[in-house]
Amino acid sequence: FSVLRWTWRLTYLTTLAGLGWVGYGIWIMRNPEDQPEPDPSKKTLVILGTGWGAVSLLKKLDTENYNVVVVSPRNYFLFTPLLPSCTTGTIEHRSIMEPIRNFLRHKKAAVKFYEAEATKIDYEKRIVYINDESEIKGDISSTEVPFDMLVVGVGAENATFGIPGVREHGLFLKEVGDAQRIRTRIMDCCETATFKDQDPEEIKRLLHMVVVGGGPTGVEFAGELQDFFNSDLKKWIPDITENFQVTLVEALPNVLPMFSKQLIDYTEKTFKEETITIRTKTMVKNVTDKYIEAESTGPDGKKILERIPYGLLVWATGNALRPVVKDLMMQIPAQKDSRRGLAVNEYLVVKGTENVWAVGDCAVANYAPTAQVAAQEGAFLARLFNQMAKTNEIEKQLAHLSEAQEKAPNKEARDQVFTDIKDLQKRLRRVKRMGPFEYSHQGSLAYIGSEKAVADISWLSGNFATGGTLTYFFWRSAYLSMCFSTRNRILVGLDWIKSKIFGRDVSRE
Ligand code: FAD
Ligand code: NAI
Repeated sequence: FSVLRWTWRLTYLTTLAGLGWVGYGIWIMRNPEDQPEPDPSKKTLVILGTGWGAVSLLKKLDTENYNVVVVSPRNYFLFTPLLPSCTTGTIEHRSIMEPIRNFLRHKKAAVKFYEAEATKIDYEKRIVYINDESEIKGDISSTEVPFDMLVVGVGAENATFGIPGVREHGLFLKEVGDAQRIRTRIMDCCETATFKDQDPEEIKRLLHMVVVGGGPTGVEFAGELQDFFNSDLKKWIPDITENFQVTLVEALPNVLPMFSKQLIDYTEKTFKEETITIRTKTMVKNVTDKYIEAESTGPDGKKILERIPYGLLVWATGNALRPVVKDLMMQIPAQKDSRRGLAVNEYLVVKGTENVWAVGDCAVANYAPTAQVAAQEGAFLARLFNQMAKTNEIEKQLAHLSEAQEKAPNKEARDQVFTDIKDLQKRLRRVKRMGPFEYSHQGSLAYIGSEKAVADISWLSGNFATGGTLTYFFWRSAYLSMCFSTRNRILVGLDWIKSKIFGRDVSRE
């Protein structure tokens, strides 16, 4: 009895302590401490963007060392790996957004945030020109932000390769607004296809969902869309069952070129079972409001130009440079041979500059443009800047001590200062010993629909390829753990439960 009683008491006390700890955590989260205002006497560090690279830098940066200014048209961080799930309502978009204001309010020293787009960076004058692109504009909607140090983390825009009609008729999948537009368009196509007296050919066209680009974005979206149809659409709108079709169009001979051959075959086989059509070796050349024109290469090498009618067209053919990045590259002679973005050195300094760094999709450091790379680059820069601040501080102390040594009244005092200088110099050497950026590849993961995922994982200096339902659970737990905050994790988890129990919402917003 006494053992039972003690076990009960211990459980009670542990639960109480746990609840207290969670409560304290929530209280701290809701009531951030006052922050010292930015100190203009310190160097101004301007960070462009609130994506993977910039936010990862801000997370680890000791903001009290600099006068930090963040500029981005997006006042939130977006967890892009789960964005394809927002196109069908498996996850609600707000669950993968984290307000940048909340995050910045928890930094030790205040950070200025301007919701604006950087339109031009004048490297010589050390000025960023910014524009308020939002709907509501004040009397002043464009101004300048001077910088001592600048980090460019503006990501990339959607590549269209100048193909006519893409921007007018296609939908992209990069931002929250894109996912919302796709969700609305899917439902619009389904409702319009069931309109009274609709022509059978037109029904077929409206229910033909075409995805261009067989990279991970295209593949994940096609998988999510087929899931939506299988689990929900055909139940609630049985009239569309016969004609609903998802087609993935890819110019190369196979989809997911960055994955191993075994996983490419597995993905293609899974798509076939899910009745998703894959059209490889098919290059889209023109887009109109109702069909795409694509050139496909037959087994005999002959090229055929065909028209593919569509109701929904999602364009996922990779990244292109943002105009502000292109313009900066033109100002720096050392960037003239770089095509895919800002060429950086091993410390992520933009080549040809001293005080400009670049992270993520806008930087070319010989790694794929992924969140994984951007996050590691951002974290590296935070360490670098924290160390630079420490170095400055130690150097100031050393200068002060050298003066003190000269003014020391006797040998004993001089010896004491000499010892202090030696200690500081040792610390300085330690602090300065920071190696260059090294990317550590953790692997690639992609959802391919019908509760299956593929993973190429780097493990114990080897590679390990796997696909299927177990990998899907791994995919889910990996992305859940990688979400920005506990709040995001809870919301995403609840969304998954909600869509499993009640199904996805088929109302059109
Ligand atoms: P972003 O995260 O795109 O952030 C750029 C920031 O700059 C944004 O805040 C933007 O608003 C801001 N900005 C834009 N223009 C300006 C301007 N002119 N001035 C100031 N700020 C500006 N990668 C993975 O590793 N794993 C995945 O599973 C994965 N899934 C993905 C799914 C989708 C649908 C997409 C689209 C991408 C996915 N990626 C994934 C790739 C990953 O999202 C990018 O590589 C990553 O976002 C790059 O980070 P970044 O910081 O360079 O840019
Ligand atoms: P991508 O560049 O990886 O793939 C684009 C595909 O479109 C290419 O295979 C290309 O051959 C094809 N294409 C280009 N033009 C075409 C045309 N006219 N007609 C037909 N096909 C055409 O682009 P994606 O998928 O948008 O990914 C961008 C980056 O984000 C990549 O680095 C990717 O690794 C990363 N990402 C990673 C994810 C993951 O790890 N799960 C998910 C989504 C993106």
